[in-house]
Amino acid sequence: MSEPRFVSPEASTSEQSIEESLRPRRLVEYIGQDRVKESLTIAIRAARERNEPLDHLLFYGPPGLGKTTLAGIIAAEMGVNFRITSGPAIERPGDLVSILTNLRPGDVLFIDEIHRLNRLVEEVLYPAMEDFAVDLVIGKGPAARSVRLSLPRFTLVGATTRLALLTSPLRDRFGATYRLDFYDLPALCAIVQRAARILQVPITQEGAEEIARRGRGTPRIAIRLLKRVRDYAQVMGDGCIDADLARTALDRMAIDAYGLDDIDRLILRTLVQKFDGGPVGIQTLAAATSEEADTIETVYEPYLLQLGFLQRTPRGRVATRRAYEHLGVPYPADRAVVQGTLEGFVEVPVNDG
Ligand code: ADE
Repeated sequence: MSEPRFVSPEASTSEQSIEESLRPRRLVEYIGQDRVKESLTIAIRAARERNEPLDHLLFYGPPGLGKTTLAGIIAAEMGVNFRITSGPAIERPGDLVSILTNLRPGDVLFIDEIHRLNRLVEEVLYPAMEDFAVDLVIGKGPAARSVRLSLPRFTLVGATTRLALLTSPLRDRFGATYRLDFYDLPALCAIVQRAARILQVPITQEGAEEIARRGRGTPRIAIRLLKRVRDYAQVMGDGCIDADLARTALDRMAIDAYGLDDIDRLILRTLVQKFDGGPVGIQTLAAATSEEADTIETVYEPYLLQLGFLQRTPRGRVATRRAYEHLGVPYPADRAVVQGTLEGFVEVPVNDG
């Protein structure tokens, strides 16, 4: 049996360890996602009072919204170990058995990108989640027999950007599923201010707002922008971030007022200029922009949908009037008719593949 394939926090680069220092560790420090936080607060308190581990939980939503952070907070609030791994890191069933048999009672096991577990590995997870047991096959051929090994009770926290790619037996084994949404401006602004405080960067309220506005509703992105603006302030200014400096720095990074970058604009421009605004299939759009279809679907599209620049229809992706306006391209008169027809279709939910 191989060594457990945990993603070790010690093995991280310095940029990642700064990121670690910025992560909230307790629920009270966590800003935003109020509904999820409230529900978790109750569940954690109830489980603690009963002296039981928490039910298995599934988080889904676009990348960078805090799925790993919340899982870590759950472990801290429950006072247990936090073990991190990911779907692609667990190649064989033996890898997962090894991870599971090394858990201690109550541990939180976090599996990121859980939709990428292979079928054989996933089958080990079913009895582990349901009965806290793994079935090992000992021997080969006619002499082979199955031995059930019991595991300590633990909490599995799964995270995925692609809920629709999870098999239903796996989905059914989670006690609760939480969708993480993009953060609103006040929450993202508070996150930027908190990060600036920890990084000891002076920042004005307006400076933080300017960064938050272009942070795509995503803490990971807003914090990344903060760090780049901090560099700019240090070299080109007096080290302090105000609205003017933030605006200049972000403009130079080609991040526009909505937080869109070159790739977002390439996707929209391709739709508008090469495909007359769509509808166009995701594979065609991917080929025309030289991006992976999966990257477009998980990284770029959710925010463009949220902004109302893009629509998903059964016939493909469509650029909206707002997208034309944002690109400064006149909206063709006959598009209004196409748009009206397409709006008759039921939209495909953002996170469902
Ligand atoms: N840093 C990153 N995400 C955060 C959040 N949701 N609350 C506080 N700080 C954060």
